[in-house]
Amino acid sequence: MALLSPLPPSPWPRFSEPLKLAVLASGNGSNLEAIATAIAQGDLHAQVQVVIYNNPKAKVAERAERLGLPKVLLNHRHYPSREALDQDIISTVQAHGADWVIMAGWMRCVTQVLIDAFPGKVLNIHPSLLPSFPGIHAVDQALAAGVKVSGCTVHHVELKVDSGPIIIQAVVPVLPDDTPDTLQARIQVQEHRIYPAAIALAASQMA
Ligand code: GAR
Repeated sequence: MALLSPLPPSPWPRFSEPLKLAVLASGNGSNLEAIATAIAQGDLHAQVQVVIYNNPKAKVAERAERLGLPKVLLNHRHYPSREALDQDIISTVQAHGADWVIMAGWMRCVTQVLIDAFPGKVLNIHPSLLPSFPGIHAVDQALAAGVKVSGCTVHHVELKVDSGPIIIQAVVPVLPDDTPDTLQARIQVQEHRIYPAAIALAASQMA
């Protein structure tokens, strides 16, 4: 059972034009797929214009291929600074006609350069109830702390890692025999529900 903050009923607000999303991912890409599914089902009025990934071996590249989405590899190891990577992200987002930056398992710290380029339109998802357990290994942190509930958060991105105004959270129980994998799996079910809704909610708040 999950205790959910209220989700707007789907289909969520339609905008005069579909939202133009750039999804940034470093790993598996299940949140990308959840967003693409919400779009395909007509719940989220949006288009994924480009998937940007930083790790050549990331499974998200295969997912993007299967989903027929344009993808661009920007390998962070090839940049002299975080700002230089972010500048290339901005160029890639704009070249693909996107103006929303959706961080979906993007495991890089972003700079003010990226945040300032798309005011109010840079979102992130994190596998904890922020402000608890920011940073890496959030699920392990929650288990180590012995919390009885955890969850996930979609928020606007600010410079400090995993901080910024919260859009939607979902809560899941932590069970006595949970491992990092079982808790992560329970959280991800909720991530896939709230991320598409949070994008729609954030866009409707900007309108
Ligand atoms: C998600 O659980 C997301 O919350 C987390 O990475 C995972 C990506 O899953 N993000 C962070 O920890 C950011 N601090 P996915 O690749 O299957 O979408």
